[in-house]
Amino acid sequence: MSSRIRASGGGPVVGSVRVPGDKSISHRAVMFGALANGITEVEGFLPGADTLATLAAFEQLGVKIERISDKKLIIHGVGLQGLTESEQPLDMGNSGTGMRLMAGILAAQPFASTLIGDHSLTGRPMARVLNPLAQMGAKIESAEGQRPPLRFSPVDSLKAIDYSLPMASAQVKSCLLIAGLYADGVTRVTEPAPTRDHSERMLRGFGYQVTTNGSQVTLSGGGQLSGCRVQVPGDISSATFPMIAALITPGSELLIERVGINPTRDGVLRILAKMGARIEQSNLREEGGEPVADLRVFSSELKGIHIGGDLVALAIDEIPALAVAAACAEGTTTITDAAELRVKESDRITSTVSGLKLLGVDAEERADGMVIQGSPMHGGQVDAAGDHRLAMAFAIASLRAEGAVEILDCDNVVTSFPNFVALMSEIGLDLELINS
Ligand code: S3P
Repeated sequence: MSSRIRASGGGPVVGSVRVPGDKSISHRAVMFGALANGITEVEGFLPGADTLATLAAFEQLGVKIERISDKKLIIHGVGLQGLTESEQPLDMGNSGTGMRLMAGILAAQPFASTLIGDHSLTGRPMARVLNPLAQMGAKIESAEGQRPPLRFSPVDSLKAIDYSLPMASAQVKSCLLIAGLYADGVTRVTEPAPTRDHSERMLRGFGYQVTTNGSQVTLSGGGQLSGCRVQVPGDISSATFPMIAALITPGSELLIERVGINPTRDGVLRILAKMGARIEQSNLREEGGEPVADLRVFSSELKGIHIGGDLVALAIDEIPALAVAAACAEGTTTITDAAELRVKESDRITSTVSGLKLLGVDAEERADGMVIQGSPMHGGQVDAAGDHRLAMAFAIASLRAEGAVEILDCDNVVTSFPNFVALMSEIGLDLELINS
């Protein structure tokens, strides 16, 4: 059983909206709040399936978390040494971030635990965290091919390592920094290209000393986190859908308020600017250690460009939506250096290109990306492959398609953007969620 979205275009895209809280920051707020001493108050929390799975995992590990409203939490932190064993496995659902960051915590505990996930997560590679954690002294068993479930044996201590990431991954960086909180000595992580730095910023907000020097992040184990107040900004990855919807629909003007524009997350803004998008930033401020702005988006004539190099990691979750923008642009867009897309919630190179082709777009897969020609689109039936970002990208494609787009396998939209259909309908899209 799974839900479908029937997208019948619509537009112009107008009004003023706030998208749900940032998924990456919401996960970290729950994790660091749970591991801190004292109370942490989280506002703007994303009540999505992924972040709720993280919340439930900490409740299983003995942490009291009050849900004052769907977006406001009070976390009664137990301190780094205060978690207790869960009899049941911890189910991280669809969430790679949940599983990989939790691995950094559970690897260091004096009790056993097991992490499980859904079908998609069970197929995703965990070697990237299991190998460096083993070097730190963790004892973790996994299924064939170093996939979940992950079974953690109790350990007395971990030792710090100096690790160069083989791929640009904030999940792996964060996992190792979290394990480093528990390790004897100084943990150093060096990244091949900049990735989102929410863990570093938030650890500092919890009073932990973290040093960033170019591509290297360093911390010493043995300190403590102090509970604090975390204000979660709107998720730029979610904002991308209404943003591109407005850009590709003639006559649109949309205000998206309170969007996180951290420079390690704003690749989508830089890429769209190069494509000729008119997006005005205003009311720039800092909230909870993260830069935030209001974005005013106007429909724009986009042109095809090359998207590659370091920019890709700064926009990694936005590529499916950017591919739709590319299909609506004049000329050719070439995306390179994006092989990581193959190990996301779906193989996003294959699933994006297959869907666009079904809508009449001239698109082609490459090993590390795709080539998309600006093309007229027609309606049709496409498969989101259980991937939230694909479902939402195809829904906005309908704004430029002749005929309705029916999108299959959309249940996981709730992982990151639970009110997607309602919010997009408010600003002019004609979307219908069909539960079968
Ligand atoms: C995330 C990091 C990225 C991103 C994911 C969230 C995070 O994954 O795709 O949605 O919160 O650290 P990788 O680290 O695998 O690139």
